[in-house]
Amino acid sequence: IKKITTHQLQAMKDRGEKISMLTAYDYSMASLVDEAGIDIILVGDSASNVMAGHETTLPITLDQMIYHASSVVRAVKRAFVAVDIPFGSYQGNSSEALRSAIRIMKESGAHSVKMEGGAEIKESVTRILSAGVPVMGHLGLTPQSIYKFGTYSVRAKEEDEADKLIEDAKLLEACGCYAIVLEKIPAELAKRVSEEINIPTIGIGAGPHVDGQVLVIHDMLGITTEFKPRFLRQYADLGTTIKNAVTNYVKDVKAKDFPNDKESY
Ligand code: KIV
Ligand code: NA
Repeated sequence: IKKITTHQLQAMKDRGEKISMLTAYDYSMASLVDEAGIDIILVGDSASNVMAGHETTLPITLDQMIYHASSVVRAVKRAFVAVDIPFGSYQGNSSEALRSAIRIMKESGAHSVKMEGGAEIKESVTRILSAGVPVMGHLGLTPQSIYKFGTYSVRAKEEDEADKLIEDAKLLEACGCYAIVLEKIPAELAKRVSEEINIPTIGIGAGPHVDGQVLVIHDMLGITTEFKPRFLRQYADLGTTIKNAVTNYVKDVKAKDFPNDKESY
């Protein structure tokens, strides 16, 4: 199997082929996602929400991200693996940022890291890139800053925030990032960013004019049920499937129907 590289991701943008990306946090799910032909697996800090049940992405630790990432890496044969550097392990300190990125790369075997923000984290991004670690940017609705925003609604609707986002995208490209996630911004703005920079943009709630798309796997499979933003397309109803299976199992156990003779030694 030919492994996906940053060069292939760039070539996809150059020839107009859209990049597919999904999150995964564990071995079993990552195996399925990789075998199905995804280009990038993101070990997102959304693990804080969907794996651990926290309300935000802030509580997840670097050790926990490394645990998820190493599980995913053991499963992956083809996809390019990106790992979120979690809140509190890079902001405002480029030495710590580099240390965190190196820990992720060494201890998990992942292929790249992702960081939220633009000009604010320039020094950290540059330093990590200098160490030979590919960096994916993340602009727009950056969930690690949720308490600054105060809401999960669409970002950069106003001109000043849109201008800053374009500047930040250009800055991240100039630093040497290999791609940028654009989260929950107007489709027109995402289109402009995608045209104005040469590296791939990967959208979530950013419309169709980006170079790739990403969703949280538990959301698109219908495992998480309360979270239904307009940008989410649900490709399966695993929540119902799993609940029905468990209901039937409980019923069979109670009815002494499971296990039967064939299922016993
Ligand atoms: O953590 C995550 O899942 C993400 C994606 C939504 C881009 O950052
Ligand atoms: Na994230």
